[in-house]
Amino acid sequence: MTPGPGKLPPASSAPTVMGVVSRHPGQSHWEKDYDRCARQDVMTIELNHTIVHSRDKRAAAAFLAGLFGLPNPVAWGPFLAVGVANQVTLDFYDSDAEIASQHYCFLVGEDEFDQIFGRIQAQGIPHWADPGHDKPDEINTHDGGRGVYFDDPSGHNLEIITRPYGDSR
Ligand SMILES: [Fe+2]
Repeated sequence: MTPGPGKLPPASSAPTVMGVVSRHPGQSHWEKDYDRCARQDVMTIELNHTIVHSRDKRAAAAFLAGLFGLPNPVAWGPFLAVGVANQVTLDFYDSDAEIASQHYCFLVGEDEFDQIFGRIQAQGIPHWADPGHDKPDEINTHDGGRGVYFDDPSGHNLEIITRPYGDSR
């Protein structure tokens, strides 16, 4: 039976995605959907790369690689690629058009957080505990981890976290 609008099916008949059922029966519908989305085993589908429109791709790629302690950017056609641990590359691209700020979040280890946040502080990079930039010079402790937001040179809203969203549920 299909539930009506706004009604949830009983937990035992809740739809599954790729055969994975939420491990957190006390969650709201939204939380369950997010949990399934973020944690399911989707076999061979992985994000491989994304293009990061930038005012100056060299400055932007060097900013990220330097701040995160990553290998130097690699030129690939018109792009400068910076790779992270799960083999995703951020392909920085010069754009003359107005750049719409995007959000990029990176899951980092505790040691990496210390190193990156240390560089943020040492370089005087403005940072906030929240995505709306209402809490300057703070970090957050969501999900029992640590998180902080800061902008890249093109105005993209970057975030580092040590625990994935919802990890404490
Ligand atoms: Fe985020």
